Amino acid sequence: MPPQIVVLNGPNLDRLGRREPEVYGTSSLSDIEAGLRGAFPNVDFTFLQSNLEGELVEAIHAADDEGAAGVVLNPAGYGHTSVAIRDAITAVDVPVAEVHLSNVHARESFRHTMLTAGACVGVISGLGPAGYHLAVRYLLDLRG
Ligand code: DQA
Repeated sequence: MPPQIVVLNGPNLDRLGRREPEVYGTSSLSDIEAGLRGAFPNVDFTFLQSNLEGELVEAIHAADDEGAAGVVLNPAGYGHTSVAIRDAITAVDVPVAEVHLSNVHARESFRHTMLTAGACVGVISGLGPAGYHLAVRYLLDLRG
């Protein structure tokens, strides 16, 4: 069975490519997803983007229930605010790696509050789409 990796993207990331390209770059979310499929042909990817907090909570539960090897989560703005998503991460066994395209530590101070990150196995911030690739690599290696 190929390892399953669930890649979750939060609010406004459906607009990547045309959303503040000077901050987030010019790759669309589909570009990032295609890049992951190309780089990891043996991984069974599930991709979900949602603007809704509860949908992200349910997707984290589902990844665990389905026995996924790991979750790559860009919680977007919810990373700075969501107790519910943090609680979902601590409520499951599946490892969750958090990714941010931009370096949130070099931006506005409200982005320095990282609510979900502390519940994750680690955080990659500021490396653009490469962050997703590094997170997948890490989660696959964790599995052994
Ligand atoms: C983001 C960073 C967040 O602060 C912001 O709210 C986003 C995108 C990133 O990928 O850099 O929506 O998660």
